Amino acid sequence: MKKTFHAIELAQQQIADLDRQLLKRQLRVTESPCDITATVDKRELKAFCSNDYLGLANHPKLVGAIQAGALQYGVGSGASHLISGHSIAHELLEKKLAAFQSKHIPQARALFFSTGYLANLTAITGLSRLAKLGEASIYSANLNHASIIDGVRLASTQTKAMVTLFDHQHLDLLIESLKRDTHQLKLIVLDGVFSMDGDLAPIQELVQIAHDFDALLLVDDAHGFGVLGQHGHGILEMFNIHSERIIYIGTLGKAAGVSGAFICGSAPFIEWLIQKGRPYIYSTATPPAIAHTLLKSLEIIESDEGIARRRQLNQLIEIWRQEMNFSYWEKVASCTPIQPVILGSNANALAASKLLDEAGYWIPAIRPPTVPTGSARLRITFSANHSIKDLRALIKTLKLIEQQIEIKTSS
Ligand SMILES: Cc1ncc(COP(=O)(O)O)c(C=O)c1O
Repeated sequence: MKKTFHAIELAQQQIADLDRQLLKRQLRVTESPCDITATVDKRELKAFCSNDYLGLANHPKLVGAIQAGALQYGVGSGASHLISGHSIAHELLEKKLAAFQSKHIPQARALFFSTGYLANLTAITGLSRLAKLGEASIYSANLNHASIIDGVRLASTQTKAMVTLFDHQHLDLLIESLKRDTHQLKLIVLDGVFSMDGDLAPIQELVQIAHDFDALLLVDDAHGFGVLGQHGHGILEMFNIHSERIIYIGTLGKAAGVSGAFICGSAPFIEWLIQKGRPYIYSTATPPAIAHTLLKSLEIIESDEGIARRRQLNQLIEIWRQEMNFSYWEKVASCTPIQPVILGSNANALAASKLLDEAGYWIPAIRPPTVPTGSARLRITFSANHSIKDLRALIKTLKLIEQQIEIKTSS
């Protein structure tokens, strides 16, 4: 007799539940390069949703670099870094990434990863293993990215690290907990730019706290690298930070326009992660052609062109801050290209996203668990390729859609 296959029924029920709660996510297929205009379902939409802040993902110089990289190195790396996958392109990239942070981190050394998710898992679990079992204590900000949360959870399982959550806008509780903390190793971890709110970590205060309480400070600057600081080196450049206690994580699939990520810290920390960072040791190295392309991207980020692109972004941010006024919806105070609009309910966020789509815009609704319950939002992001005219047209459309939705909701 054929047995009932329960797992498939469970999957169907769970998905139906998500749908009922308006929490089901939807994949959309693009047919064009990542840029400010996207072809989705055969329609052209103005995209204000990618993390390609500098508009490099479809830059002719990077398209040329990936072609040249493939000709020089082929398309695969063939093995993990420690077996045979570490090419000269990876080596040169890591040297250049370390040079970006060398004014901020003494003896800076960098380690390249295929994704930011893996970089966070490696850094958090690996650094926790510096202490004896049960002797690490991790302080993680409430609104941290999922990859940090998962890194912390894994570290707590693997190394019995104690975990304390804190509010990055109110550091008193963090300080109080650290005062009482007698663990061998203390690690504070948080986003440099909070990915769903766009606000910055109070990095200067945190560096001081790390010094006062003998802690390490891991900053995930996924959304700051390439964007912040005069040369785009990120949040440490912006605030002129210098500390051997910092472990800096940058991602390379957002402002850098390609893919991948890196951990940068003082050389002994990086050597330790090479020895003991399990996700690093046990995954295949990124194709060297990608590392080769990223070298060109770093060159653009630092160049006059990079400076001009950041200037354009900052102009867009300034106009948005001054001219985008809502009657019902809430803007978040953000000085970065991430400018969320909080609508509250999942239903309203979905309705707004749908009306935007009908008006020719691509701005998905962001709902829990990505953001806290009751704070569903439109996460609007800018690219240096957007013009001021594009932005003003979006502002006008958003004002109309706000009225349409809120009048309908209140009637
Ligand atoms: C703050 C933050 N950290 C890490 C990541 C993960 O980076 P990646 O997309 O390279 O895996 C993201 C991705 O969205 C992020 O927003």
